[in-house]
Amino acid sequence: MTSTKISIIGAGAVGSTTAYALMLRNLAAEIVLVDIDQVRCEGEILDLSDALSFSRASKIKRGTIEDARESDIIVICAGKPQQPGQKREELLENNKKVITSIVNDLKPTNKHAIIIMVTNPVDLMTYYAQQTSDLPKNQVFGTGTFLDTQRIRGLVAKKLHIADQSAHAYALGEHGDTQFVAWSSATVAGKPIITFEGIDKKILDQFLQKTREKAQEIIKCKGATFFGIAACVSAICENIIYDRKYVLPLSTYLPEFGICMSMPVVLGKKGIEKIIDVPLNTEEHQLLQVSADKLKNIISL
Ligand SMILES: NC(=O)c1ccc[n+]([C@@H]2O[C@H](COP(=O)([O-])OP(=O)(O)OC[C@H]3O[C@@H](n4cnc5c(N)ncnc54)[C@H](O)[C@@H]3O)[C@@H](O)[C@H]2O)c1
Repeated sequence: MTSTKISIIGAGAVGSTTAYALMLRNLAAEIVLVDIDQVRCEGEILDLSDALSFSRASKIKRGTIEDARESDIIVICAGKPQQPGQKREELLENNKKVITSIVNDLKPTNKHAIIIMVTNPVDLMTYYAQQTSDLPKNQVFGTGTFLDTQRIRGLVAKKLHIADQSAHAYALGEHGDTQFVAWSSATVAGKPIITFEGIDKKILDQFLQKTREKAQEIIKCKGATFFGIAACVSAICENIIYDRKYVLPLSTYLPEFGICMSMPVVLGKKGIEKIIDVPLNTEEHQLLQVSADKLKNIISL
């Protein structure tokens, strides 16, 4: 058990499921949930507290933004989620206001804290959070294409009858419609995935399409997505707490593009330690530029 304090701002479907995942992984001594809907927040606390005896977390409580300031890790998942058929960028106007106000209210933030952005459109929310926060950029990042990467790896692994963890492929760029997979450097045991029997360009394109559409597929069936992202956030927290330095695709500021989007990064207790300059072929470079141009255009509006 660590003595880590993790605050989750936004105790909706994503926030409460993240708290549950953190509890079951025994990652934090104290979990604080913050929400403007105090009744819902209290209900989530009461429900989660029933699971406390199965966890080594000592405390889960409802708190305020002021309580969150002193945390080691602050997860922000407040704001509107997508409705069926709605694009992530349609949430921009509302969620930008929510995020900038929350990050402003977090100041002065514990100077060692890490802020993990989850609210969509996550690349733009990460950018605005970095602009607003008093923390260095490497301590403020977004979940980006981590979940998409897990989805892609799952599809490849199923096709090749291997474990997901043995499929080394990254979804990169925007967490949205312009994301792409760096197939040219995707391997299993160093062997390019494209060279495996039963895999061709058409199948890889289908994997990408399925990944891009998966959130909407889930939202159409049950109204929201939360288990996958909660598992991703808890894995990110574990990396930070134990200074694991795993390489994960996260949304971070890329100076050459002037925006935040996903590239593989080394993650440790101080946040993002290094951005990996993943080798891309000409087509993938163009796709990364397409993601960057889309995000840049939105920011400059
Ligand atoms: N990055 C990803 O991969 C990913 C995956 C799933 C969902 N999301 C995003 O996470 C966000 C939350 O989704 P959800 O399903 O939990 O939504 P939800 O509606 O269930 O919960 C959102 C919560 O935010 C709270 N809130 C709003 N403004 C607030 C403020 N100023 N301060 C504190 N709390 C505030 C609301 O009261 C609500 O309880 C959405 O933007 C969604 O698109 C991101």
